[in-house]
Amino acid sequence: MRSKSYRFVLPTIVVAAFIGATFLLCQQALSAPPDSGSGAASSSAGKQIYESHCAYCHGLAGKGDGIAAAYLSPRPRDFTAGKFKFRSTESGSIPTDDDLLKTISEGLHSTAMPDWKTFISSDSIKLVIGYVKTFSARFANEKPRPFIVGSEPTMTPSRLATGAEVFQRLQCQSCHGVGGTGVGATASELFDDWGNPETPPKLTEPWTFRGGSSPADIYLRFRTGIDGTPMPSYISSATDAEMWDAAFYVTSLGRTPAWKMNADNLKKFYASQDSDARSNPIKRGKYLVDTHLCASCHSTFNADCTMKDGMAFAGGVKIDLYPFGVFYTQNLTSDKETGLGNFTDAEIKRAITTGVTKANGRMLPFPMPWPSYAMLSDEDLNAIVAYLRTLPPVYNKIPPPEHLNIVSYMWGKFQMLILGKVFPGKFYSGNYGISNPSAGKSISDASKGVQK
Ligand code: HEC
Ligand code: HEC
Ligand code: HEC
Repeated sequence: MRSKSYRFVLPTIVVAAFIGATFLLCQQALSAPPDSGSGAASSSAGKQIYESHCAYCHGLAGKGDGIAAAYLSPRPRDFTAGKFKFRSTESGSIPTDDDLLKTISEGLHSTAMPDWKTFISSDSIKLVIGYVKTFSARFANEKPRPFIVGSEPTMTPSRLATGAEVFQRLQCQSCHGVGGTGVGATASELFDDWGNPETPPKLTEPWTFRGGSSPADIYLRFRTGIDGTPMPSYISSATDAEMWDAAFYVTSLGRTPAWKMNADNLKKFYASQDSDARSNPIKRGKYLVDTHLCASCHSTFNADCTMKDGMAFAGGVKIDLYPFGVFYTQNLTSDKETGLGNFTDAEIKRAITTGVTKANGRMLPFPMPWPSYAMLSDEDLNAIVAYLRTLPPVYNKIPPPEHLNIVSYMWGKFQMLILGKVFPGKFYSGNYGISNPSAGKSISDASKGVQK
């Protein structure tokens, strides 16, 4: 299992490099028209920072629908609702500027939200906060209602014991599992207010807490809740002292992180993770498919590089890899006629690990980095197949790859090898598959060669 985490690295880097390059191209397409001149200079400066640094995740209009959004979990925030998770204000209130400053400067651990203080100046952060606030009228119409935190009591063994009782009484284990381990949680299928699935964090891994892991941070989350998510605010169901006790108790649950374990403990830790994975192959498969970024190539995208609605995993992306040929990504949904529905498990595994297609064609070792997937264990491959089988069917008939004739191919190779020319791969937006079962043979709904 330990070696497996290294195995992720190579394919992820290869794919990330492809996607990184395509996002750069998209960002140029995104670059905004000049400001209409109505706003003040600072708003225009904030807008510029937002559009160059935030829009590819949060969307140009702040709706949380940027280019990268469909690939991220949790999804980037939709600012238009004026609903924020990490605040020092009462449940339901808008955040203060200082709350936004903290989130944007420090980032949100275990999510894609970066710590912007590392990348842009504090003045730029202030300007961009002003701009983020323009996406929701709540900031113009309401005032933040700060939650007043009293002074922090001292942690004692008896306070920890009370904390454990409070944890039980308030049913924290129904979402976070026994002792915060995630095991035995009865509330499954949780969703946030935007309809995305929510997984409560393991309280044994405090480094994943987004709002901070000190007792004061945790206490504040209890009192103010995490708006927009199932994590409630415990303002009326417990006293102030009880919530401090529960916060102390939560800090006592933290396990030793992997980077501080010795070799023996690390081995035991990975063995227990392996048995977790075996007990839930679909969850394991989803994790592997997400971390190997299969969706980034196997989903059709729009000209602005956002994922086409309903086309997750339906393939149909055209990739021009001159002089090797033009390739179309396979439909990985469970559709029987055009997806993986009529592939056997062995055929899927063979494609992923050896690059041999169902039609006995040979895939190049790029863009799909199957040589790196070759090292996946059989258990993990079974998990990937199990998860792919759960993808709802989408009809999308994918054309076969097109190869150049031998003379053109040799000319291309000559230019590359002898003349040192570089031909970057081109990803095209639009669907190059046929998504309408009654359409003829022509490629129907591809947009004309807009390049990712
Ligand atoms: C790589 C993607 C990415 C980029 C770029 C990004 N964010 Fe985020 N951001 C996220 C994600 C994901 C979340 C949601 C995390 C969560 O729900 O816990 C988020 C959440 C937020 C929140 C909400 C915090 C809350 O309390 O609800 C704010 C504010 C925010 N981002 C501001 C910004 C600003 C300003 C920028 C640009 C300077 C930016 N983000 C750039 C991914 C990104
Ligand atoms: C209905 C389910 C539910 C219950 C009950 C619940 N939580 Fe949570 N909790 C969540 C979810 C979901 C999140 C993740 C929210 C997010 O950031 O998107 C969370 C997040 C947290 C966090 C991390 C905060 C951070 O900064 O990231 C802590 C700590 C926590 N819960 C502790 C508790 C404790 C202690 C209780 C009982 C007093 C409790 N939770 C009750 C669902 C629940
Ligand atoms: C960087 C882009 C990229 C990534 C990432 C990627 N693929 Fe592919 N995949 C392709 C392309 C392109 C083809 C078609 C190749 C061809 O026709 O020669 C393909 C073909 C396939 C096929 C079809 C084989 C057949 O019999 O026709 C399967 C199955 C597949 N990929 C599964 C996956 C899975 C599972 C993942 C994640 C573990 C993944 N792919 C990641 C680009 C990618």
